[in-house]
Amino acid sequence: MDPITAVLQDVLDEIRGDDRGAPASYIPELATVDPDRLAFGVVGPRGRIRSVGDDEVEFTIQSMSKPFVLAHVLAERGLTAVLERVGAEPSGEPFNAISLEEGSGRPANPMVNAGAIATTGMVSGADVDERTESILTTLSAFAGRRLRVDEDVYRSESTTGDRNRALAHLMRSYGIIEAPVELAVETYFRQCSILVTVRDLAVMASTLAFGGVNPVTDERVVDERVARDVLSIMSSCGMYDFSGEWLLRVGLPAKSGVSGGVLAVAPSQFGVAAFSPRLDEHGNSVRGQAIVEALSDRMGMHLL
Ligand code: DON
Repeated sequence: MDPITAVLQDVLDEIRGDDRGAPASYIPELATVDPDRLAFGVVGPRGRIRSVGDDEVEFTIQSMSKPFVLAHVLAERGLTAVLERVGAEPSGEPFNAISLEEGSGRPANPMVNAGAIATTGMVSGADVDERTESILTTLSAFAGRRLRVDEDVYRSESTTGDRNRALAHLMRSYGIIEAPVELAVETYFRQCSILVTVRDLAVMASTLAFGGVNPVTDERVVDERVARDVLSIMSSCGMYDFSGEWLLRVGLPAKSGVSGGVLAVAPSQFGVAAFSPRLDEHGNSVRGQAIVEALSDRMGMHLL
């Protein structure tokens, strides 16, 4: 085992016994996961993927799709157009909060649900299939392999997605979302239901770490400036109402999802991802966060 994989294994073993939290259950299909799953991966500058634990297990990307769809829309529309509809301020509120700026109806940032739905509403394409396909193409380029949607999770999201629909209706009433509500939310539900492994997420994170170039495939996926803009927003908003303490403790831009994944970026050094389905009260993976924090500590990755 090479020295970096040995560190990963050591970190994994150190936090394995922590069984606090519970998998998400508000989307019924997410509650069927094995809560003991545990995986960890990193990708460095030469594109070598190192991973340990349940690293071949697929789970849905959920909110970890948000930075990559933001990258897609920033590349298509530019920062100014995006900021007209979605802010860049931490909300200090839970991911599903029904809170929009008074007067404008603008959501706080693209990492909370409201802002993510508004962002997805800006993806171009004639219908849900076309828009999903263009998101899949971009996310697949970030991952370096063709990704696909889990249809069972998608149906479960759509059946139980009334809160997200309500947010979308509100935002459409303000003109923040131009697309018909169903087009925006169904595309968003499909984007959340894309299947990934911890290895995919580590590669996706590394593509942001290396200025928009996937270090495994050497493909330029987005401009350096787009990657920087996405990382800036992840730094302040990626962990919901825990974003401030996360930056304090771990010091890396990161994004979590309710499936139990966490990805983090050490710019010019590593893309990091962890997976463990049990979540804390903020909807962030308990062991996923502990893994990234332990790695950041051991390798001195805190940016500040
Ligand atoms: O919008 C939702 O409810 C989910 N499909 C995605 C939310 C999510 O991952 C929030 N993360 N902690």
